[in-house]
Order: sequence, then structure tokens, then C-alpha cells
Amino acid sequence: MINIEETVNRLRETNDLDDEALLYLIQNDECNSILFKHADSVRREIYGDKVYIRGLIELTNYCKNNCLYCGIRRDNKSVGRYRLSKEQVLLCCEQGYELGFRTFVMQGGEDPYFSDDVLCDIISDIKNKYPDCAVTLSLGERSRESYKLLFKAGADRYLLRHETADKAHYEKLHPNDMSFDNRIKCLYDLKETGFQVGAGFMVGSPFQTYENIIADLRFLQKLKPHMVGIGPFISHCQTPFAGYKNGDTFVTLRLLSIIRLMLPNVLLPSTTALSTIHPDGRILGLKAGANVVMPNLSPKNFRSLYSLYDGKAAFGAESAQELEKLKEIVSKAGYSVCVDRGDVKK
Ligand code: 5AD
Repeated sequence: MINIEETVNRLRETNDLDDEALLYLIQNDECNSILFKHADSVRREIYGDKVYIRGLIELTNYCKNNCLYCGIRRDNKSVGRYRLSKEQVLLCCEQGYELGFRTFVMQGGEDPYFSDDVLCDIISDIKNKYPDCAVTLSLGERSRESYKLLFKAGADRYLLRHETADKAHYEKLHPNDMSFDNRIKCLYDLKETGFQVGAGFMVGSPFQTYENIIADLRFLQKLKPHMVGIGPFISHCQTPFAGYKNGDTFVTLRLLSIIRLMLPNVLLPSTTALSTIHPDGRILGLKAGANVVMPNLSPKNFRSLYSLYDGKAAFGAESAQELEKLKEIVSKAGYSVCVDRGDVKK
């Protein structure tokens, strides 16, 4: 038995713990309230009660990759494919700006149509029209040269989850033509390019062990990303992982708290996957130390096609258009939605 309060305090003071203590915190429900309390207190010291919002624009669901967990994998022939035009993206930004969004996140599958030229043109148009806004990209693995061009065109941030920091586990989640080493290299290339960088992983993905999760935390400590995205794995019925068990809500929440305590300044979203598996996921995430939400700003008729996992929430408080609803829920929970760009605090 360990003294939970003392252990969490040590994590808070030193931003670190040995593997054994971390394993205990991750695995045990009786750690919930103490972890959440300290994580929330640290987030309030740094970010106050502010919840930053990002408008998520799902640019394309074409993908050349075949990740075993993902609903928009190449081999899923049942999903109708779409890509947004520059005009459609700009319309999303216009609506988002009106609503108060000052960060636009362009996320998509790895779609060769979106060459550097096509992307740089979209990015520079957004930045010219909305110089007070941040542009975040989440478009997968690209070359270092490509990342440099996207950064030069004005993109500020890049999200690329590492998915798992264990090579053998990575190879169970991805086909042979994908490389763990390249994914990690991309994250370092992005950092070197000057992006604010986000990494992250799925909680409860098939074959994941608790030791794998420790490796994820150690990797985050080493990379020191500005943002970390984690959410529960949720199985998708048209993937090889159909019928596999979903990740656990409370393991995810404890990990959010641990990440807040390890990397106090990190921008940490309460993710859509978390609100998909639990009706109060969004708020529970905030209370566990998360300080970002990313409502969906994509054109409504395409949202159901960006189906990474079954039941993915895209409407109600997940929808950018329902920002008032989100503001209400967030303030009831004791936080306030903030419409700044919301950069990481140094
Ligand atoms: N369950 C949960 N998250 C998923 N993602 C992809 N497929 C799933 C799934 N089945 C996550 C990956 C990816 C991000 C965009 O969505 O971590 O990086």
C-alpha cells in the first residue's frame, strides 16, 4: 500500500515518480479524487479557470494509411469519402470567427491531394484574413521540408499523436508499411521546425499493457510537447478491431491528471472520444486537469463521414455552433470559456 496523498504531492512537487508509483496511480480508482484535486489545482495556478476552445475543421477523410483501429483507414470501403475545398474551409473559419474561435484546427487523413502547395495556399489565406488567429494542423506524417513550408506559410501548431511509445505495440496497431521510428522522427522534426507540438496516445487500445502506458508517459517527459491529446480507444465496426473492448473512462481521467502534474503548463484537451464514451466525459476531463475543448466546426453534412470510431459525437455541445450550450456547461462546472488564441504559458 502506498500513501496516495503523499505520492500525488510528490508528483506535483517533482513532476515525476518511479514506475511503480505511477502504475499504482493509473490502476486504482481510489486515487481518483486526490489526483483530480491536485491536477485541477495546478491547472488553476497556471491557467486559472480558463477553458480554451479550438474550432475543429475535418479537412478530408481520404487516407493512404491503414491503421487497424481507425474508421477512415484506406481499406474501409463503406465510408463515403470527401475533401473540403479552400472555399469550404474559409467558410468554416468565417463562421468560427463570428462565434468567437481564435484557433482553427485543420485535421485530416493522410490525403496526397493536400500537397504542400495546396495546404500553404489555404494556410496563408486563413492567416491573411484572420491574423489574430492561430492555425493548428493535424495532418499526419510529412517530410521535414514539408513541415518547414507549412510553418513558413503561417501554421502555428501541429498535432501528431505518437499513438504508443512502444515499438512492438505500435506494430500491432499499424500495418508493416508504417514506421514507429518515422512517427517519432516527425515529432522531433516538428519541434525543430518551430511548431508548438502536440503528441498523445489512445488509452486502452488493443494489446496495450500498463507498462506501455508508462512508456507513453516517459516519452512525453522526454519530448516535452506543448500539447498532449489522449482519449479512450473506441472500437469501430468496420475495422479489424471491431468488437475489441473500449478504453476505460476513469483510467483516461487519471492519466489526464498525471499528465497535468508531470507537464504542468501543457495544453490538454478534454477529447471528443472521452465525451463519446461517457455522457459527462467533457466535464469530467476538465475537472481532471484538462483545459482545452475542440468543438466541431466542419460542415454539418460531412461530420458523420469523419468516423474515426463508432458513435463519435459531433453535435450538441460538441458542435461549434452550440457554443452557448458549451459555455453554460463549462461555467456550471466552475470554469469559463475563453476566446483568446490560448497559447501555452511558459
Ligand atoms: N478510438 C479512439 N481514438 C481513435 N483515433 C483513431 N481511431 C480511434 C479509435 N478507434 C485517434 C488517433 C488519432 C486521432 C486523430 O484519433 O489517436 O491520432
